Amino acid sequence: MPEKIFGLNYHAAGNYVYQHGIGVIMNLYEAIFVRKTIGKYKIEPLEQALLDGIINFAESIPPLFEGITVEYRLMGRSEIKKNFRGVLTYKAPYYLVLYAENISDYQINGGYLMQQVSLYMTAKGLGSCFMGILKPKKVKTEGTKLEYVIALAFGKAVNEVYRSSDKAKRLPLNDIAIFKSEVSRNIKTMIQAARLAPSSMNSQPWRLVVYDNRIHVFCKKNVFLTGILNEVKLIDIGICLAHLLVTADELWVDVKLIHQDNISNIAFKKNDYVISIKMC
Ligand SMILES: Cc1cc2nc3c(=O)[nH]c(=O)nc-3n(C[C@H](O)[C@H](O)[C@H](O)COP(=O)(O)O)c2cc1C
Repeated sequence: MPEKIFGLNYHAAGNYVYQHGIGVIMNLYEAIFVRKTIGKYKIEPLEQALLDGIINFAESIPPLFEGITVEYRLMGRSEIKKNFRGVLTYKAPYYLVLYAENISDYQINGGYLMQQVSLYMTAKGLGSCFMGILKPKKVKTEGTKLEYVIALAFGKAVNEVYRSSDKAKRLPLNDIAIFKSEVSRNIKTMIQAARLAPSSMNSQPWRLVVYDNRIHVFCKKNVFLTGILNEVKLIDIGICLAHLLVTADELWVDVKLIHQDNISNIAFKKNDYVISIKMC
């Protein structure tokens, strides 16, 4: 069980999540190792303070890239049914829906933000599930320039909300990461956390090339995926970046996101270059 530390709140304690009456239960980094997708939810209301905490946390996360306007909307099942097509495979009491300006990298940013919210929910003892299956009836929201990005179903889980990371079905580390040089323990820890990132249909499209103090992030090409399915890959990449950067924060490693033109100019057969993380 995570260690309980009392009297802090998550702002005061970096990534720590504060639960009223209990204290700090776990931080976002620890949540990476116990999270799982939750399918069955108790259809019951959550405390208003908890819902407010989720929205406040979401709105406090700095975007991955400057200048992408985002908006979170909290919806119940009836609002979801009104605004979306697609079977609600998972009936949850609440859905957090992300809208964003459709500018470069907005889906990567969306995955990055929503995974941190999902980890926050895990830390609060709540279950969640990304709802890639939902398709909005209208892509653009009325009166704004914002477009639907992704939704997260959430609530109290009927069954156990936590899972030990060794039970997560994931590719072996060597299938997702190549180490071109001896790397630090911190970088290895970041890669291990990245491996545990959830993805649509558990496709795990990230490929990481580590060289000296840089992690180059690639996305696996899939000729069978077209249109929206292909775009969901970018949300997956954002989720993986969330695990990498939450871990860097935990380890007090300063990082910079950079786009290396010398890599992006190369046409790779199996992967697309996305971005590089440089340890400062
Ligand atoms: C972007 C995204 C969309 C997803 N969409 C769905 C969905 O529509 N329905 C569903 O049952 N699971 C969905 N999932 C959950 C994945 O199937 C799940 O994360 C993956 O199988 C790994 O399992 P885990 O989250 O328990 O580790 C989605 C996950 C992601 C990241």
